[in-house]
Order: sequence, then structure tokens, then C-alpha cells
Amino acid sequence: MSSSFQSLPRRLLAIETSCDETAAAVVDERLQVLSNVVSSQTGLHRRFGGVVPEVASRAHVEHILPVVEQALTEAQTSQEELAAIAVVTHPGLVGSLLVGLTAAKTLALVLDCPLVPVNHIEAHLYACRMHAGQEIFPAIGLVVSGGHCNLYDCAGPWDYELLGSTIDDAVGEAFDKVASMLGLAYPGGPSIQQAALLGDAKRFRFPRSFEKDRERLEFSFSGLKTAVLYEIAGKPPREYDPRSLDPRFVADVAASFQVAAIDVLVAKARQALVARGRRTLCVGGGVAANALLRERLAGAAQQDGFELVLAPLALCTDNAAMSAIAWEMLAAGRTADLSVDVTAGLVRRRNVHSK
Ligand code: KG4
Ligand code: ZN
Repeated sequence: MSSSFQSLPRRLLAIETSCDETAAAVVDERLQVLSNVVSSQTGLHRRFGGVVPEVASRAHVEHILPVVEQALTEAQTSQEELAAIAVVTHPGLVGSLLVGLTAAKTLALVLDCPLVPVNHIEAHLYACRMHAGQEIFPAIGLVVSGGHCNLYDCAGPWDYELLGSTIDDAVGEAFDKVASMLGLAYPGGPSIQQAALLGDAKRFRFPRSFEKDRERLEFSFSGLKTAVLYEIAGKPPREYDPRSLDPRFVADVAASFQVAAIDVLVAKARQALVARGRRTLCVGGGVAANALLRERLAGAAQQDGFELVLAPLALCTDNAAMSAIAWEMLAAGRTADLSVDVTAGLVRRRNVHSK
């Protein structure tokens, strides 16, 4: 081994297949992202208005090897240079997770390097740590995505206490469903954000569940979703063709829905900070890409005087680079052997990670 090679920071390969993105990344131990490849299946799922698990697993099988190869090539990294293989094992769609885990186990076995099982939710918040470039914990963590809407009190990168989550839909799911009601493209988050740009957010006053209830750090978006449906289709709802909706009306509903959902997220994050006496809020997951949410959180941080660490845009929606949390896990000896399996949710002794 040459001395110049020895002085290079070590690199790991991370694999992520928890939902409908086949992703692989190479990240070095200084948390520099050397490649971050995401093969999205949104085109496949668009006509169903959501992710179909069986379709997702099959697409992962097709894409996993080319995606891993592309990640290594873009990072100019050979397999032999890898110091570890990180892989998301939970939570997620079991059939999808299995594809990534099988690829990761095979590489770890062949290359004789450590295998690090990563929690997808912890990875979403670790994207904030990567962006900050320094320690961010302890902090309140808000994970807002298509599958999750959770508030945590985070003592460390994986030492989480669940403060509350959604009692029905995740917030990203609500964006996706409302977009579908309005005839906007899947995934709904970016479509709603775009449509809302031209809309009047004050035209409809949609419900904001638990917004003022400080004792209840939980979310509910089904009432909001139903209120939107009644506004579009009447009560009880009649059959309608989303293509026949007036564009002005669509924009106003999108804007009014978006601001209602975001008001609740911001209110609950603030309440959690106060309840736990924390000074830092980190926010990750697909919905953290929302421009209005980012703006409102920044305003709240300024007003209340807390530190806001948002996941960078490139690491909000599902990606493998955020699994660089594996470097910290590796240092703490949190590796797995080849018997490790996938789980839809992870139950820990101290706390519970769930949807
Ligand atoms: O984190 P992610 O890629 O997957 C899960 O772990 O679920 O999040 C995907 C979700 C989708 O529901 C999508 O509509 C939403 O994130 N999303 C957004 C935006 N971009 C993606 N929601 C609101 N505004 C956005 N700009
Ligand atoms: Zn996610």
C-alpha cells in the first residue's frame, strides 16, 4: 500500500432501497459525499398515485447493481478501497429493503469488510448533521416524509426518544393524496408546491389538527385531507374529473392546503422544543424540501431564538448518502453479521421507532 493511499480518508459504500428509490453513495469518513446516485421509480408508480410494493421490489432488483456500479465509478473508487458497507435495513417496505440488504451482504462477504445496518429515519436526520459539519445533538428532530411524520428528542445520532407521530397519514402522504384529488402529478409534494405559487393561501381555511394543543405532540392529517375533498367534490363527495377543475381553484386549494399542513408542522416543532428545553431543531425527510416549510421554520428560529438545521435539499428525499451515519456506528462497533434481517419498524429497549 503506498503512503499516499494510506493518507486518503477511508470510504464506505451506502445502499438504500427502503421505498421507491434505488440508491447508492460513496461517502468518506470526513462526510464528503463522493457520489450519490438515486434511481427513482416515480414514473412506474405515477399511474397508481402511490408506491406499489411489489412493483417497487422488482424495480430494485433490476437497478441495484447498475446503481452501485455507477456510485463507485462516479466516486472513482474500487470495491477494494471500501472500508465498510452501510445498508438501510429498517423501516421500509420489506420486499424493497431485502433487495438492498442482499446486495450489501454479498459485497461485505466478498470484500471481507464490515456491514453496518442503518435506520432510515436516523439517516434522514443525519443529513442535517452532514450539512452542519459539526455535532448537532442534542436536538429535537422532525422527520417529515411520505412514510413518516415523527418528532423525536434526540440525545445522539441514534439515541432517540419518540415524542409523537401521526395518528393517521404521514404529511408527505397527505401532499400526495391532495395532489391526486387536484389532478396534479405524483409525487404530490413538489406539484402542490408549484401549483401553490399562483394560489391564494387564504381563500380556504382548512383544519389544523392539534395545532394549539401543547400537551399533544402528535399529528393528524386525515381531517385536513377530508376537508379538501369536501371543498373539491362537495359533502357528501360526488364523482368528479380532476381534469375539469378550474386552474385558479386548484392553485387556491393547493396553497390553502399547503399552509395548513405547514402551520401544524411548525407549531408542533416549536412546542417540542419548549417541552424538552432544547435549543436545536433538525428537520429531514422529503417534505423538508418544501420551500414554504423552510421559510416558516427559519422565521420561527429567528423569533424563538433556536438553532435550525435543515437537511440540504439534495439529501431531503430518499438517498443513500445520508446513511453516512454508518461512520459513527462503525466507530461505536454497531456492525452486523450476515444473519441480519430487515424489519418494517424497529423496536428498541429505550424507545420505539415507528411510522
Ligand atoms: O423521504 P422521502 O423521499 O420518502 C419517504 O421516506 O417517505 O419523502 C417522499 C415524500 C413524498 O410524499 C413527496 O410528496 C414529499 O416527500 N415531498 C414534498 C416535497 N418534495 C417531496 N412535500 C412537500 N414539498 C416538497 N417540495
Ligand atoms: Zn425517507
